Amino acid sequence: MPREIITIQAGQCGNSIGSQFWQQLCQEHGINQDGNLEDLATEGGDRKDVFYYQSDDTRYIPRAVLIDLEPRVINGIQTGPYKNIYNPENFFIGKSGIGAGNNWGDGYQTGESVHEEIMEMIDREADGSDSLEGFMLLHSIAGGTGSGLGSFLLERMNDRFPKKIIQTYSVFPDTTNSGDVVVHPYNSLLSMRRLTQNADAVVVLDNGALSSIAADRLHVQEPSFQQTNQLVSTVMSASTTTLRYPGYMHNDLVSILASLIPTPRCHFLMTAYTPFTGDQVEQAKTVRKTTVLDVMRRLLQPKNRMVSTVPGKKSCYISILNVIQGEVDPTDVHKSLLRIRERRLATFIPWGPASIQVALTKRSPYVPMSHRVSGLMLANHTSIGTLFKRIVRQYDGMRKRNAFMEGYKKTAPFSENLNEFDEAREVVTDLIAEYEAAEDANYLNPDEDKPTSAETDKRMG
Ligand code: GTP
Repeated sequence: MPREIITIQAGQCGNSIGSQFWQQLCQEHGINQDGNLEDLATEGGDRKDVFYYQSDDTRYIPRAVLIDLEPRVINGIQTGPYKNIYNPENFFIGKSGIGAGNNWGDGYQTGESVHEEIMEMIDREADGSDSLEGFMLLHSIAGGTGSGLGSFLLERMNDRFPKKIIQTYSVFPDTTNSGDVVVHPYNSLLSMRRLTQNADAVVVLDNGALSSIAADRLHVQEPSFQQTNQLVSTVMSASTTTLRYPGYMHNDLVSILASLIPTPRCHFLMTAYTPFTGDQVEQAKTVRKTTVLDVMRRLLQPKNRMVSTVPGKKSCYISILNVIQGEVDPTDVHKSLLRIRERRLATFIPWGPASIQVALTKRSPYVPMSHRVSGLMLANHTSIGTLFKRIVRQYDGMRKRNAFMEGYKKTAPFSENLNEFDEAREVVTDLIAEYEAAEDANYLNPDEDKPTSAETDKRMG
């Protein structure tokens, strides 16, 4: 029985990433731009019904709801090459058409007034599934719509579907420069609270890391969003291959997440992928010899991670799942794991199993690949806390000066007071403390003290 997943794309970033994801999935499953199976798509063995359903005329339609408060990106999708695959009833564009102005409060407040219409779309999709497993929210946390409206929807979905898994692919801003959204620390901190409290798993991707990977691997300085989104859609497609080409293990979301998230609060995951090839970029087409060991070793290199973190002395992996695709001999996997252990290439938490899990999966027969083996790492690593610390520090700097606060005060969540900010900050500092505590051997021992958020605060200086 399929375990269906409904994708919800919110805001400019969420919809741009989503449209590349669907394009890639269509290519991998041999579905053409009208939703029909290509003549060449005869191999079978894949499970299209996790992400698509079939219309009465047997076309494949994504289980996707596309939401934005301004029309530009969605209009682009509606007039683009894949315009015919989507269910036309699943587009939601805000009536005012002006977006949320990079203001979390605005996006959240709009959520209050439009959520019935959106939840109706989601309910309709849920009712159309036989055995719904959960949801994937695609959004950025730095702007107004994906972050504010996305936060509102996370809360609502949690209430409405308490037994379903909610996973997000959340694009964090480049925290090393102020970038295109000055108030990103406010919006990010406020969204982080919902990602902590209302999501089961968050795949963290940050624009700083994505840009440097694009520069390094694809040899493009100043990559466009289209190019960084190509990286993101590759990661999303690889992390769903075990669902779409099922084997014995990791063939539903719950089994993937259960192996990665041993304690519910530490549910922020990082990814790495290798080798990247750029379709449009000549230099990135170089083919190297790829063995399982090469791939696994490269996945562990910090420069291949799609999150910028600063590992500390005690930073360690809580868990790792490598999804390896291609021509692989299982004995090579075993040997590679031994080699990685001998060389101590990965440090694990002292309170759990210190092992890399490996899922070997099939690759789409319809998309030519120049390398023998490719791999995705999904990892839970305590250094993710350093990214959250940076957000809190940047938030504190702006809040101290009350910078840009007027726009927020005009929106419903802040009309009476600014408690929403203080509560979000507390949730995020508690989360940072949780990741620090996870580095200690006595993490699971309830008698021992964990650092409190006040202590963490002090340490952050
Ligand atoms: P409003 O524009 O305020 O209505 O909200 P929004 O959610 O539509 O904003 P957006 O998604 O543009 O969020 C801004 C953040 O997302 C910034 O950090 C951008 O750099 C980033 N961003 C926007 N589009 C993309 C994209 O296509 N890919 C990536 N990787 N990041 C994006």
